[in-house]
Amino acid sequence: MESQQIRAKFLDFFKSKHHHIVPSAPMVLKNDPTLMFTNSGMAPFKEFFLGNSTPKSTRIADTQKCLRVSGKHNDLEEVGYDTYHHTMFEMLGNWSFGDYFKKEAITWAWELLTKVYKIDKDILYVTVFEGSKEDGTAMDQEAYDIWKQIIPENRILMGNKKDNFWEMGEQGPCGPCSEIHVDIRSEKEKAKIDGKTLINKDHPQVVEIWNLVFMQYNRKANGSLEDLPAKHIDTGMGFERLCMVLQNVTSNYDTDVFTPLIREIETITDTTYGSDKKTDIAIRVISDHIRAVAFSIADGQLPSNNGAGYVIRRILRRAIRYGFTFLNKKEPFIYRLVDVLSKKMSAAFPEIKAQKQLIENVVKEEEASFLRTLDQGLVLLDRIISETKNKEVSGDKAFELYDTYGFPIDLTALILSERGLTLDEKGFQTELEKQKNRSRAASETITDDWIVLKHDAHEEFVGYDILEANVKLTRYRKVTSKKEGTLYQLVFNMTPFYAEGGGQVGDKGYLEAPNGDVIYIIDTKKINNVIIHFAKNLPKELNETFKVVVDKKQRYRTACNHTATHLLHQALREILGSHIEQKGSAVHSKYLRFDFSHFSKMKEEELRDVENFVNARIAGKLPLQEQRNIPMQQAINEGAIALFGEKYGDSVRTIRFGQSMELCGGTHVQNTGDIWYFKIISESAIAAGIRRIEAITNDAVKDFYTENNTAMLKIKSLLNNTKEPIKALQNLQDENAALKKQIEGLLKDKAKNVKQELKAQLEEINGVQFLATKVDLDQNSIKNILFELGSEMDNLFAVVAASPAPEKAILTCYISKNTANEKGYNAGKVVRELGTYIHGGGGGQNFFATAGGKNPEGISKALEQAKTYVV
Ligand code: SER
Repeated sequence: MESQQIRAKFLDFFKSKHHHIVPSAPMVLKNDPTLMFTNSGMAPFKEFFLGNSTPKSTRIADTQKCLRVSGKHNDLEEVGYDTYHHTMFEMLGNWSFGDYFKKEAITWAWELLTKVYKIDKDILYVTVFEGSKEDGTAMDQEAYDIWKQIIPENRILMGNKKDNFWEMGEQGPCGPCSEIHVDIRSEKEKAKIDGKTLINKDHPQVVEIWNLVFMQYNRKANGSLEDLPAKHIDTGMGFERLCMVLQNVTSNYDTDVFTPLIREIETITDTTYGSDKKTDIAIRVISDHIRAVAFSIADGQLPSNNGAGYVIRRILRRAIRYGFTFLNKKEPFIYRLVDVLSKKMSAAFPEIKAQKQLIENVVKEEEASFLRTLDQGLVLLDRIISETKNKEVSGDKAFELYDTYGFPIDLTALILSERGLTLDEKGFQTELEKQKNRSRAASETITDDWIVLKHDAHEEFVGYDILEANVKLTRYRKVTSKKEGTLYQLVFNMTPFYAEGGGQVGDKGYLEAPNGDVIYIIDTKKINNVIIHFAKNLPKELNETFKVVVDKKQRYRTACNHTATHLLHQALREILGSHIEQKGSAVHSKYLRFDFSHFSKMKEEELRDVENFVNARIAGKLPLQEQRNIPMQQAINEGAIALFGEKYGDSVRTIRFGQSMELCGGTHVQNTGDIWYFKIISESAIAAGIRRIEAITNDAVKDFYTENNTAMLKIKSLLNNTKEPIKALQNLQDENAALKKQIEGLLKDKAKNVKQELKAQLEEINGVQFLATKVDLDQNSIKNILFELGSEMDNLFAVVAASPAPEKAILTCYISKNTANEKGYNAGKVVRELGTYIHGGGGGQNFFATAGGKNPEGISKALEQAKTYVV
């Protein structure tokens, strides 16, 4: 059975059990501060388990793209080394939200596996939760009894809290689980060792395939459990493992999910999978990681230097590094796998095909840039090796290479061992630990439990229509972190505050108590679909009715920028073409930022055209046409633009201004005329094939023109109030260039004289022509003179200082190669040591090096000390 069929059969089966089939939610989560990536099939449904919202259907099934590379569930370092862990994988799941419970979940799972997929019962085992003293939870007798009707008791095993109690994170919904395991070893091996003893023992052919979780508790911040308002089912089956079983192979990588990728890697790198342990690991790493990276990019997450983007960059770099070391690929090649991946996956996940070109470009660019980093790292490592005296490279040097230059530590260790050197691994670990502690201390957060004042699950957002409301506090909690101090998170029964989302910032404003006390709301965010207001203090009386007021000015400016963002999107599609895809946006009160796919820098005329297009629609005074709660399909049929990587509900809101129509939850102006004017401030590249436009509207444009005008007046006045400032500036530039040329000539003459003077100062000490002096020349001229002197003799040792500016000092050291080699001198070491006198540092090669510092007063001492090297 091909993987495609296996997936379809799962969904069809649960459809027949009256489940609503939904598409996979995005793998990269936006607007969820507690989770970066969807790490399990249930993550998109968290809000339903917590009772924050009600699902449209109480039975749902899907296949969900998951990524386990950070936080509580992180498999990254194992991937490649075994045959059944992945960074990205698909989780097939069925859910009951307060509908059916253990009996149906268990019997249907069994029916699907043994009747539909026809898996031999004799290779299946199940586990049941044994209970936990620590939590005060009992053994799951109910599940045991249900299984007993289905499977012989000797195939039911008891499991502890680690294996049979599922938790999404440190806090939140959880419950006991029952897992189904397969034993796909050969009969010969089975005869030797009983499969039962290998369950949960990391055997590659005795693995868990399906986890049935019986959600019934909520884990609180203090570690205790409370009952959830209703009981739910959350099941997750590893799709790739299921394919392994049904395709009669013993590794996930031998299923048709991976083999096309592996064949392509073999072709590109001229290797054979299965012929060498190290090559095999590299091939598995690359075939796994390209999936994680490609799907993340398709979901709108580009590799970057922080947050989720950094995790993606690290995954891709791990793949590049394995290709570099074990497949000997020194040029980009991983991007070439995207085509194969797209062919394999696009039927189930059309986002890959739709964004293939972008994914290829981004991956190729990342590969090229990391390969340059590796090249640079190799040069730096060479230098470190040449300076290492005792055959061991210190931990802090290796750490600097890793931390500052991004050079992988295992590569450092490998190269050192090839050169007969060792690495001070303990020292490296100490440095790494120190850095981790620094960032941990900076980011540590303590989140208290919610204090519930009023059980009112429903919190209404009224902020599209009004900016003030009288509200009740329904719950709050305290969150303390080093970075932000103590903050209170407040939830009201209704709120006019817009929570950060869809790129738009959260509202700010205040809360007023009946006694006149005012508390500022400094931000608003959505967590698990609840609108949370952030404040530095709590009201004294919590059960009052409060007046909450949104900062109108900020909201209005933000609305101008949001509407302008839609018009900009429309303009780009009209002017540059329909390949334009929104790749991110940030709508603030002061400016807007819009990222989109486009392959070349925009020309001046294009930018002007885009500005004119938007401004024409502003001048056209187009009214807002809003539709709330219309079915998704209707919105799409009417021409609304939906974005890849966004999670939309069944009913959506549409925003239309003239011909621009988008699915959008943000706040907008009533009429485009309110925007007043739109101005692009910059256009730049943020990644291969992704451009960024920053723009301003309304008051910010007025400020922009006022500032520019003031600057212009100042420029004119500096140019003696000329009427033609541009021409005057050009004249100045020409004059400047001519003067520079003259100075260069004069410096050359001066250098000739200085060279003669330096020659006269040479002093012969122990067979070395020694010189230590200060001159009044620029760095380049000093270098030229020293190289000329160096070519006239083979025993020069010169240290020349200069102070080109009041707080600047430079030191240059030249040692003839002969002398440096014979006597073990090192110019780099000399300038580093003498550099301390001028409060600076530097380096270079062993025959020539320079240092710069801030303390010219230290020059004479440095020159005095120079002699100590030769006497
Ligand atoms: N949440 C469970 C898991 O991820 C079952 O879906 O294993």
